[in-house]
Amino acid sequence: MQRTLIKNILSDNKLIGEQVRVCGWVRTRRDSKAGFSFIELNDGSCFANLQLVVPAQLANYKSEVTQLFPGSSIAVEGELVLSQGGGQSVEIQAETVKVFGFAEPEKYPIGKQRVSFERLRELAHLRPRTNTFGAIARIRHALAMATHQFFSGRDFLYLHTPIITASDCEGAGEMFQVTTLDQNRLPRDKQGKIDYKQDFFGRKANLTVSGQLEGELYACALGNIYTFGPTFRAENSNTRRHLAEFWMIEPEMAFADLDDDAQLAEDYLKYLFSYVLEHCREDLEFFNQRIAKGLIERLTTLATAPFQRITYTEAIEILEASGAMFDYPVKWGIDMQSEHERYLTEQHFSGPVIVTDYPKEIKSFYMRLNDDNKTVAAMDVLLPEVGEIIGGSQREDRLELLEQRMQAAGIEPESYWWYLDLRRFGSVPHAGFGLGFERMVQFCTGMHNIRDVIPFPRTPNNVEF
Ligand code: 4AD
Ligand code: MG
Repeated sequence: MQRTLIKNILSDNKLIGEQVRVCGWVRTRRDSKAGFSFIELNDGSCFANLQLVVPAQLANYKSEVTQLFPGSSIAVEGELVLSQGGGQSVEIQAETVKVFGFAEPEKYPIGKQRVSFERLRELAHLRPRTNTFGAIARIRHALAMATHQFFSGRDFLYLHTPIITASDCEGAGEMFQVTTLDQNRLPRDKQGKIDYKQDFFGRKANLTVSGQLEGELYACALGNIYTFGPTFRAENSNTRRHLAEFWMIEPEMAFADLDDDAQLAEDYLKYLFSYVLEHCREDLEFFNQRIAKGLIERLTTLATAPFQRITYTEAIEILEASGAMFDYPVKWGIDMQSEHERYLTEQHFSGPVIVTDYPKEIKSFYMRLNDDNKTVAAMDVLLPEVGEIIGGSQREDRLELLEQRMQAAGIEPESYWWYLDLRRFGSVPHAGFGLGFERMVQFCTGMHNIRDVIPFPRTPNNVEF
């Protein structure tokens, strides 16, 4: 008999009275004096467990069923009936229980008592079996599906940009090197420097920090594209918002300016909020109750309310006038810290803010220079709690100015000849942004630490699993 997913059993009334088969992992078992075992089974298809009523008459009742402790895996067949007891709507009257694997109660680390999120990071192989991590995985999935629906629905082409590259999009030098050279016997050139000509790619290579540069090449041929892939940053930040490996969504639009970019960002975020509200209700209820009070209300408001838009200069004025005590003093030209971003989103505007037109000195070389010669057409989208969720810009589409910006940033224009070619042949205004996927999952679940919203987090000194 084919197995039915528990989510379908719980949502489809037509199955009542039918024979069904379910498979999953035991969450709890208790034995009644009347000669039954009650098992709560979870198969990951939804938040709720399904109750199984197992009568003592079954041949393997004594030998196996009474040995089913949390974590054991089973298949159960029987009739789906309306539940007698309170607390659940339906249950299975088990006729057969097949055990796949037992779990020893003394050894199974997530069996009984509550385990902290910190400890669960060390048990990342088992944590998807907990309520919280199952719900995170389903919401993560929904956000990924929503992303493809949103962009595909607007005729954006899904582009696969390379993971291994020789360029540094953000120019910050925070890259993981990719090499096959024997680290104990590095080849040297005449000047005594490491001879990368002998390396796999014949030159220095690294893991990408962003697919943007390649994204621009395709946008300036096909119109609108988006990427959705892993990116890597060797920044040594041990914060609750940084990972060394994270997933980024990067749309890029030809014939578009910064306003179009901000509008796309706002539409995309609202689409994501509406989508999870519609598709992940049960999981959201859990986070709303147990992790972040008011989460559902906040997502509902954000799904429709307009986002604030201010310039960087206005943001600095607000911060200066606030009278708030910041650790990092505010003045025009600073790179805003998370305390400043939080003040804007949580105290001043109580909602999302799009900040535009940052000083050119603190932003990447590819951003378009504004007429004031001081600022660039950049934008950051800030959300309460998580801070910067999106970074984007209109791109510098004028060859000479781009070369100047590169030189000022200490980047050799020659090594980006292909990127500059785009400005030599049929250059067009274009713009795009990057959304940090894990920060989005954080925002939609209310989870405090980014390490808990990616299955296997990579951070300094942590690459287990
Ligand atoms: O602001 P960033 O660095 O922008 C770019 O990479 C551009 N090339 C994007 C573009 O215009 N196509 O990164 C974009 C977003 C940030 O706003 C943040 O949400 C997320 O990526 N992000 C991180 N998320 C987790 N861990 C990290 N270490 C992150 N660094 C950036
Ligand atoms: Mg940024």
